[in-house]
Amino acid sequence: MKKRLFLIGSVLTLSGFAQDSALANLKSRLPEIFSACAAHYKALDAAVTPLMKNAKGQTMVPHGYKRGKKMYDMRRIEWWTSGHFPGSLWYLYEATGDGFFKERASVWTENLKPISTYKGNHDIGFMMYCSFGNARRLLKTEKYDHLLVEAANTLCLRFEPELGLIRSWGKTDDKKDFLVIPDNMMNLELLEWAAKAKNGEKRFAEVARSHADVTMKNHFRTDGGTYHVLNYSQKDLRVQEIRRGQGASCFTAWSRGQSWAIYGYTMMYRESGDKAYLDFAQKVADFAINHPNMPEDGIPYWDYGAPGEERDSSAGAIMASGLLELSKFVDAKKGAIYRDFAVKQLVSLASPAYFSEGDEVGHFLLKHGVGHKPGNSEIDTPLNYGDYYFLEALVRVRDM
Ligand code: GLY
Repeated sequence: MKKRLFLIGSVLTLSGFAQDSALANLKSRLPEIFSACAAHYKALDAAVTPLMKNAKGQTMVPHGYKRGKKMYDMRRIEWWTSGHFPGSLWYLYEATGDGFFKERASVWTENLKPISTYKGNHDIGFMMYCSFGNARRLLKTEKYDHLLVEAANTLCLRFEPELGLIRSWGKTDDKKDFLVIPDNMMNLELLEWAAKAKNGEKRFAEVARSHADVTMKNHFRTDGGTYHVLNYSQKDLRVQEIRRGQGASCFTAWSRGQSWAIYGYTMMYRESGDKAYLDFAQKVADFAINHPNMPEDGIPYWDYGAPGEERDSSAGAIMASGLLELSKFVDAKKGAIYRDFAVKQLVSLASPAYFSEGDEVGHFLLKHGVGHKPGNSEIDTPLNYGDYYFLEALVRVRDM
């Protein structure tokens, strides 16, 4: 009996050691990885700074790169990803301490000031919190707080109390359709912050929690897989339609949506302490990790129902960052599973299979993202938000 116990003990110790060593190995490589990321983003910033204003004088932000045309895909500041490029510069400042990134992050962030009152969709959380949210955190300044609280107010204009939901897309006076997507979970972090801010209001957290609760009830199948678009009826307060949206079908889970859910419910647990969100974060994470179509390297196909098609590196990066945070909130055994999976994903993303070489994708970091395959748009391409969550995840590894 004694011998047997000893053996079990050794196995546990050995497997624990293997896990720790994967993390330790990635940690030891971080200086080299951050240095490669920094070199890419210095070159990217130099290439896109002359494109900051378009011919009409409108302010633009780099969203991606059109490889075939060797052209940057610059988008207006109202585009949902406008906060991710400045946010990546902030993470590079945090990772390297290089003042260059602080200066450039400040410039690109300040360009987004007009967004605090943008009412066109729910993405104001992404746009404002990835940029100004990181600025306030790293500069330890309150000078942007009024803008962030204003943005939270603007987002709440899309909240419909009868449904208990924020409308993701569409006009706020549309009586026929009320569209909600799991991506919306990410915009709740702005509300959670604003509820605690000096000049904020408690109701922001009430809106965030209501949205998270109703989404948890309706937006997922029993196995934890997500729908992309739900259309709610404002007459009888029920789901009137399921749309495949950016996913392969209404019956499969769109990979990035699943990653938004993992990250979003983990964040909601961090902010609220509500255990229901922690349980749910595990359910949606387990769906992804244990999915039979999850590839060996941990980077999902663009939809869990599209094995053999393109991978989505952005879905892998968002999931890795979410899993690293989730790993801290659960018991040691489960925590090791989430942490190891995230480490595997990051090792894959940092490898030549996904990490770009020279200017092959205009000095964005990650290749092989998929924006909207059913819309035949942005397939196998770099995406600025893939880079953002990759950098965030690496900083989370550093701080573990
Ligand atoms: N939030 C839009 C997307 O993930 O493509």
